[in-house]
Amino acid sequence: MDIVRTHSLVKRYDNRTVVDDVNLAIPEGCVYGFLGPNGSGKSTTMKLLLSLIRPTSGEVEVFGRPMNSDTRRELLTGIGSLIESPPGYGHLTGAENMKIVQRYLGSTDDQITRAVATVRLQDQLNKKVKNYSLGMKQRLGIAMALAREPRLLVLDEPTNGLDPAGIEEIRALLKHLAEHGVTVMVSSHLLGEIDKTANVLGILSEGRLILQGSRDQLLAASTPDVVIDILGSDNPNSTAEQQLRDRETLRIPSVDDLHTAHVVGELVASGAGVYGVRRDEQSLDDVFMNLTSGGRL
Ligand SMILES: Nc1ncnc2c1ncn2[C@@H]1O[C@H](COP(=O)(O)OP(=O)(O)O)[C@@H](O)[C@H]1O
Ligand SMILES: [Mg+2]
Repeated sequence: MDIVRTHSLVKRYDNRTVVDDVNLAIPEGCVYGFLGPNGSGKSTTMKLLLSLIRPTSGEVEVFGRPMNSDTRRELLTGIGSLIESPPGYGHLTGAENMKIVQRYLGSTDDQITRAVATVRLQDQLNKKVKNYSLGMKQRLGIAMALAREPRLLVLDEPTNGLDPAGIEEIRALLKHLAEHGVTVMVSSHLLGEIDKTANVLGILSEGRLILQGSRDQLLAASTPDVVIDILGSDNPNSTAEQQLRDRETLRIPSVDDLHTAHVVGELVASGAGVYGVRRDEQSLDDVFMNLTSGGRL
């Protein structure tokens, strides 16, 4: 079952389309990596899912039910979120901040204890939040989002600005949550930060969802470059040494197998010494860069 679905979701500001006909499908229990360069519309889409802003057109469906003014309150009780910078009052301690959230959400003591333990902040709760590292602030933000044990957690760039150890900590936390049945949607503008954590990826470019699927599906959807190795020199009288010395490599992007066979046939017919034809392996990073036009900012 999909825990989130959107149907032709559109958000326009003035005449700019910021979210453009987006159809998300987030399967229950997964970590959904929501990727796209800065400005591609990730935060806006997440705000639409959380009903913080209204769509220009289209629909959001959460837990199999449409999000609207009648269902909004009830559906939101099942969603925890961390949008943009981490919340929390700096001059209060972690414990005091959690107390405020508890009162606001009506969470039990047990729920708060579990949320804090999940992000491993139990030993830092008596420090003022202004003395927390960025990683600790993010973890406190996640604890707040977990305070009512949501089925769905929506995290907007929780690894932004963290050092590698902090990023690793968040990754481990997201995996742990998914293993305990929480569906996690997490955004990033850097594939590497969530690539190995997410089992489903959605890639946004200029407001459009250009790809959605498992890591393997995304890799399969890319067509690796064909690389053809050719001996040098058209001169039939050149020596083997000359031919080897002047050899060259042709690179042809996004061609299918039939077209490749045709190109090789033409080369051979014209007398070229083709000695190698292969597909260049692409990493998921290359796919992401190609799809999002070099991660243009
Ligand atoms: N309230 C708003 N009014 C006008 N434009 C906005 C507003 N919010 C976001 N935008 C624009 O929408 C685009 C997408 O923004 P955003 O969703 O924040 O992207 P991302 O989170 O992927 O960086 C940006 O060009 C941004 O300037
Ligand atoms: Mg954003």
